[in-house]
Amino acid sequence: MTSASQQPREKLLENPPSELSTEELISVLLGTGAKNNSIKNLSRELVDYLRANLGTKVTVGDLTKFNGVGKNKALQIISALELGGRFRTTREKLKTYSAGRGEFIHGDCLDGLKTLADNSIILAFTSPPYHNAINYADHIKKLGGEVRYWERKEQSYQFYKVFLVDRFKELYRVLKPGGHNVVNISPVAWGGKRMALPFHFVCWMEELGWQFKEDIVWEKGIVKDKRSGVLMQHPYPGYYYPSLSVEYVFVFQKPAGEKSKNNIYHDRTAAEKRANRMDLTGYQEQSKNVWNIRPVAPRENIHPCPFPEELASRVIRYYSYMNDVVLDIFAGSGVTNLAAEKLGRRHIGMETEKEYIDYAAKIISCANHAGQTKPSTGQQDEQRRPA
Ligand SMILES: C[S@@+](CC[C@H](N)C(=O)[O-])C[C@H]1O[C@@H](n2cnc3c(N)ncnc32)[C@H](O)[C@@H]1O
Repeated sequence: MTSASQQPREKLLENPPSELSTEELISVLLGTGAKNNSIKNLSRELVDYLRANLGTKVTVGDLTKFNGVGKNKALQIISALELGGRFRTTREKLKTYSAGRGEFIHGDCLDGLKTLADNSIILAFTSPPYHNAINYADHIKKLGGEVRYWERKEQSYQFYKVFLVDRFKELYRVLKPGGHNVVNISPVAWGGKRMALPFHFVCWMEELGWQFKEDIVWEKGIVKDKRSGVLMQHPYPGYYYPSLSVEYVFVFQKPAGEKSKNNIYHDRTAAEKRANRMDLTGYQEQSKNVWNIRPVAPRENIHPCPFPEELASRVIRYYSYMNDVVLDIFAGSGVTNLAAEKLGRRHIGMETEKEYIDYAAKIISCANHAGQTKPSTGQQDEQRRPA
């Protein structure tokens, strides 16, 4: 598409109709609702066409063939389709790969989540893309030697908000009442500013109905960023830029009745509790909401920003029982899945980049066949997410 033709689309992204509720957009597009004036009243013929082409790529040219659809309306429809998650996706359309006691779903987690039943998962732990801090597709090309560097893509903060909100809304449907949604997130730098992403994120989650529960600080120890050096060069007030040595781990819960049968922690049998009794050795350190855990070094994993296995292990041990299913919707190199596997949980990981899934499956297989050599990370990747 030319940049001129992208303008209405960009406008739509900046001014999302109906707060971009996926269901509303879908119902508008399918002619069952009419909350959005700009794209309502689609012809029956067009609605049938869209229905028949769910999940396939629809172009402006395909749509302008219909009466009353100009370029702008076509772009609005396409944007709505993209933002609305391309309707329902069947399991068959997504490739799944088994790994130990779990599996990876290759594709957009919005599609992956739609294949899971309501109220079916007890714990989700993830670290989403931090706005546009990393261009994962280019990182894969770098791994393959096709490019030397990856560059950040232009993406509006509003678009990013919608991207996350759509996916965490679908996650809300899938989690059991009382289940936990744990998210590792950090501020990002963009356009010369530091965006307070974690704090915006908490508000977005609360608006979706998630109950905020814990704010854990992941203390990463010594960091290599050069921010604090500014004060050394200009030792005056106003030049303080501390090194960024922490990230956040927020715990949200899907509300459930107190002591209710619906609450996953209240209907566990005594035998289950016995089998899952926690070893509290070293708990004094973990009992604080500051967790001191060494980050993964660049050469230890092919992914540009994996979180440490210890971070995932703690979350999994505190919020799930053995045999429960743990879900990571932005699985990357599968660290959540690996930790879940080792702790006797079942697991599902969703990821758009197949190379990361392949690597994750290998790590899990190695862990299950102790003695096998851990897969090589190949070329050394020094280009990491800024802390
Ligand atoms: C911050 S990283 C997660 C890293 C992971 N915690 C690990 O330890 O390796 C975010 C991941 O989300 C993936 N991703 C981006 N958009 C996605 C989407 N729509 N659905 C699923 N995965 C996506 C990226 O490819 C990236 O690997």
